[in-house]
Amino acid sequence: AAPVRYEAESAVITEGAAESNHDGFSGSGFVNFDNKTGSYVEFTVDAPAAGSATLTLGYANGTDANRPLDIAVNGDQAADDLAFPSTGVWTSWSSVTTTVTLKAGANTIRTTSAAAEGGPNLDYIDVTASDGPAGTDY
Ligand code: GCU
Repeated sequence: AAPVRYEAESAVITEGAAESNHDGFSGSGFVNFDNKTGSYVEFTVDAPAAGSATLTLGYANGTDANRPLDIAVNGDQAADDLAFPSTGVWTSWSSVTTTVTLKAGANTIRTTSAAAEGGPNLDYIDVTASDGPAGTDY
């Protein structure tokens, strides 16, 4: 399936804030996670069929240190300490890709700060879901 973008500033933000003070983001802003372990953003994403999906997370990290996130899908951990390395400055944006398994229909994807500094500034997630069985046209 074609990638579908979900903007972080439109997701459910718990211990973080939607901000727009560093240029170059997609949509109307990004999420600044609170600088603590456990702050999170939860997206609800749709998949046309069950299967593996590529998750591309757009972010900026203007510090020198990694800002890891844990990724959970439907409550189950899908990636532990996924690395979000420095992008140099907060106005420089990059992306990290990981693979998750989705069910058909609605899925929750939660991205949680895995270190005391909190996550990077999270711009969006792009979800490229499975196309489903051969011959099925989504
Ligand atoms: C700065 C920056 C924020 C960022 C924060 C952080 O305050 O302006 O956008 O989120 O650092 O370290 O997380």
